Amino acid sequence: MCGIVGYVGDRDACPIIIKGLKRLEYRGYDSAGVAIVNDKGELNVFKCKGKVSGLEEFISEKDTRGCVGIAHTRWATHGEPSDRNAHPHYSASGNLALIHNGIIENFRVLKDALIQNGYTFKSSTDSEVLVNLIEYVKQSNDCSLEEAVRLALKQVVGAYAIAVVERGNNSRIVAARQSSPMVIGIGKGEYFLSSDAASIIDYTNDFAYLNDGEIAVIEKGKDLEIKTLDNEDGHLDIRRLELSISQLEKGGYPHFMLKEIHEQPNTIVDCIRGRINPETLEVYLSGVALNKEKFLNAGRIIFVACGTSWHASLIGEHIFENMCRIPVEVEYASEFRYRNPIIRKDDIVIAVSQSGETADTLAALEIAKKAGAFVYGICNAVGSSIARVTDSGTYIHVGPEIGVASTKAFTGQVTVMAMMALCIAQMKGTMTEEQRHAVVRDMLRLPEITKEVLSTDSVIADLAKIFTYAHNFIYLGRGYNYPTALEGALKLKEISYIHAEGYPAAEMKHGPIALIDTEMPTVVIATPDHTHDKTVSNMEEIKARGGKIIAVMAHGDEHASKSADYVIEVPVCSECLMPIVVSIPLQLLAYYIAVYKGRNVDQPRNLAKSVTVE
Ligand code: AGP
Ligand code: GLU
Repeated sequence: MCGIVGYVGDRDACPIIIKGLKRLEYRGYDSAGVAIVNDKGELNVFKCKGKVSGLEEFISEKDTRGCVGIAHTRWATHGEPSDRNAHPHYSASGNLALIHNGIIENFRVLKDALIQNGYTFKSSTDSEVLVNLIEYVKQSNDCSLEEAVRLALKQVVGAYAIAVVERGNNSRIVAARQSSPMVIGIGKGEYFLSSDAASIIDYTNDFAYLNDGEIAVIEKGKDLEIKTLDNEDGHLDIRRLELSISQLEKGGYPHFMLKEIHEQPNTIVDCIRGRINPETLEVYLSGVALNKEKFLNAGRIIFVACGTSWHASLIGEHIFENMCRIPVEVEYASEFRYRNPIIRKDDIVIAVSQSGETADTLAALEIAKKAGAFVYGICNAVGSSIARVTDSGTYIHVGPEIGVASTKAFTGQVTVMAMMALCIAQMKGTMTEEQRHAVVRDMLRLPEITKEVLSTDSVIADLAKIFTYAHNFIYLGRGYNYPTALEGALKLKEISYIHAEGYPAAEMKHGPIALIDTEMPTVVIATPDHTHDKTVSNMEEIKARGGKIIAVMAHGDEHASKSADYVIEVPVCSECLMPIVVSIPLQLLAYYIAVYKGRNVDQPRNLAKSVTVE
């Protein structure tokens, strides 16, 4: 999920590819490395955990000359961040070096087969399996590197953007992509390669975009050769890019937050990748499956989290209680750690954290661990402190989240919780196969459902213009929609600085309705569920007092739309997944209000992306 850069030409490759890695730094990563083939055909790999500046320091005394080079910044998915797990990875013979962005889903099967054939491994990554598979195929078939890459990739299931260089060949890179970005920069007598054009825009504005399932042979002094996995000629799609660096880093979006909101159909695919069998509709999470007894005998689940992750945990409470019939408590980590809580040996404490570094959540986890509870992590950053302290866990795999306001991590957290509950419900028999499969079918539809919701972006932008005057907002919902209302309110307040509160819709008459007047907009989430009509009644109560209502509802909901001043219509799916669907228009509403108010959306005042202090 992080960055790759490559160069082949007449210039020294290392300075170019290191500079390219620095251009990718905004994406966040945990280790970096380069592989260079010099004029004598020697292949040298230099890599280390940490920042690109650390890598620069590491190679400052090394001989890194050579006109072919590939470089990588890693966002770990398999194997903790470390020197040995950093990329590039040598093949067993040392003749090949590979860099990889993405996830090889069937790496375990491939690794076992290679071990059967005498291969050993230095790292615990899925990527090292791929470079050895390519070497094995090359040796077994006595074929070219590009043919070996093609034959090897036909055995691979997963997402990849790869680049491979070979000892003895100082004029060629072989690259390929499937579901991970890659672009080839076309210079004068030289080529550049990157996961993001921003990292090589200094050298050229002409780019060839590799398509999924295509392999590129990038050779100095020769035309680009593009092949498909089926050995047919690929389509060379060359475009001239006049975008600024800053625009390119954000993928053409004005802010990382908007880019990450729009990434969610893809990040949901990455989150469920390799975890749902689309044929059998079965869900497999190793963190749950390998701790079956713990979940079967759990007396209680306690979520500890902060902020958005706490809101996701409130949704997890509904999910686990409804689907697994396990009692759940949700705790602010900062409260839990100082409350001298009662923790029982059959408790499962689940820490939810995008960064995996939130101080309060880490502290709460340590207390639970000391008390003998089984501790589980739902994190995004692989190898983060929380991920390392927990007994087991499930990564959400949504890639680096740069915007301070959490968006794709929230929907990734809810997706993982739903998958966990489906696994546990199957173990405990608390859901019928039909009930489970109905949820899984909707989960597989989430990418298309969320794409549909995102297509209302401009409608939400227009709606947001109306409310930039507001100084206070209320967000209301019931059941699953209550934590979603809390999350919608947090998005607005943290990036627009407008005060916003989330409330259970039924609670209005116990005080907050006194706040309602023509100046106080109310967002009401009134999607179909067993409390829908009661929520519509709450809307009536607000309207009767002059309140302006923005209602989030199902398409064509006549009943609710009669009580609303403004309507955001969303598609409907399984109730436990609706927070994912509903949160997206609320993210967009907050985003556009903040933009119209001229706020620093990606770095709002007073906030940090990861609160590593108390
Ligand atoms: C959410 O938009 C905020 N950025 C903040 O509440 C965040 O969710 C909270 O700090 C927890 O962070 P974590 O998920 O990395 O632990
Ligand atoms: N799955 C590979 C690893 O964990 C690549 C991760 C990435 O995309 O940076 O090393």
